[in-house]
Amino acid sequence: MVKQLPRIPHLRSFLQYQSRRHASTKPTHLTILNQDYPTDHKTNITPTIISKLPIRLHTQRSHPLSTIRSLIESHYPTFSHLSSFSPLVTPYQNFDSLAFPVDHPGRSVTDSYYINEGLMLRTHTSAHEVEVFAKGEDRWLLTADVYRRDEIDASHYPVFHQMEGARIFEASPSGMKEVEDDNARLASHLAKSNIVIEDIPHLSPTNPVQPLHDPKHSEAVALNLKLSLNSLLLELFGGVAGVSKEDPLRVRWIEAYFPFTSPSYEVEVFFRGKWLEILGCGVVAQSTLDSAKIANKLGWAFGLGLERMAMILFQIPDIRLFWSTDPRFLSQFSHGKITTFQPYSIHPANWKDVSFWLPHSEKQKATMHDNDFCDLVRDVVGDLVEDVKLVDQFTHPKTNRQSLCYRINYRSMDKPLTNAEVNDHQSRVKAQLKEQFRVEIR
Ligand code: DAH
Repeated sequence: MVKQLPRIPHLRSFLQYQSRRHASTKPTHLTILNQDYPTDHKTNITPTIISKLPIRLHTQRSHPLSTIRSLIESHYPTFSHLSSFSPLVTPYQNFDSLAFPVDHPGRSVTDSYYINEGLMLRTHTSAHEVEVFAKGEDRWLLTADVYRRDEIDASHYPVFHQMEGARIFEASPSGMKEVEDDNARLASHLAKSNIVIEDIPHLSPTNPVQPLHDPKHSEAVALNLKLSLNSLLLELFGGVAGVSKEDPLRVRWIEAYFPFTSPSYEVEVFFRGKWLEILGCGVVAQSTLDSAKIANKLGWAFGLGLERMAMILFQIPDIRLFWSTDPRFLSQFSHGKITTFQPYSIHPANWKDVSFWLPHSEKQKATMHDNDFCDLVRDVVGDLVEDVKLVDQFTHPKTNRQSLCYRINYRSMDKPLTNAEVNDHQSRVKAQLKEQFRVEIR
């Protein structure tokens, strides 16, 4: 998966440890999207996350995420536009069908939300590649909400939205003619446009052609991918950036690695003075098409994050705003139009620290993953939390007990918070910490 910001040092999941110790407190079943599911030792989905599942912001008309989706969909008018796949997938769909190794960190309960051992929330839209190809779709876009356990700050939220796009061609002379004709069309359009592309070779020793691919076919498909995405980015950013003769849109291609594509790339756009990573893509692994029982075809796929795109294009400074139901946010947008967000209120930040000792038993030294702490805070205070940082951790040299100190920044998007309110939220966080993790507040 596209790399995340660096984490604090990885700690074994305290949640897992706790669920073994306090197994009796976990419900035996959970109702998710009106269906009942049994829980087990892997269950870590939280009430906050369950409440987000029906919302599907990408389908809410006039919402910035839905506007980005429609703009990309209109750029690919001949593609199928899919957006109603269930967020509940098997680990096989999310990882194995895409050749993720068995020890990939994304599979762990500290990184992903599990309903139970056999069912999880998709962490990316690539989870649906095999089933969409298996339906016989050969050019498609799929938009969906995706879920990852993560830290809390202005650009990370445990629910976000991605769009997956893919196109496959016959691996035959007529298929390659189709690619080449399309390449000629796209290249002539780009040649007339104000865009500067920093390209890299399609293939390299570290970004190789797949063993079963004819290198010529792979190159033609990779070129199609590049031309197609360059023209998409020109359309999305060109208008807003005020691209001019003196100031063309700059796009750069970088070699990347994904287990389900080869060659693979990341694409960055130079926007408002910075290079911004926009998407990951590549030539689809033949094993993915084999799993979908698609023979004699090859093609490309890309995956992009809609929040990231919308934050850049609409100048939305905090990812929580996408979930706001405040009319001062929602009424600013009209469907299909990119406009600059006008902040309506910036309230002061309220920092509070909480320090605690983790429980300690003879047998096990307890630890807590920062994602466990973040999920707890979100469950207690919702979107009033802007940012969480682990500011201190140490192990007592004599007792061997571990102490953690987290700094929580409370800030509402909508109204100023009083001191009393912030103190009340902080007390509820402490109470929940004691209840759920049996910690001793210091
Ligand atoms: N699924 C990847 C992620 O979430 C993004 C991605 C990379 C999608 C390469 C693709 C692809 O389709 O070819 O980080």
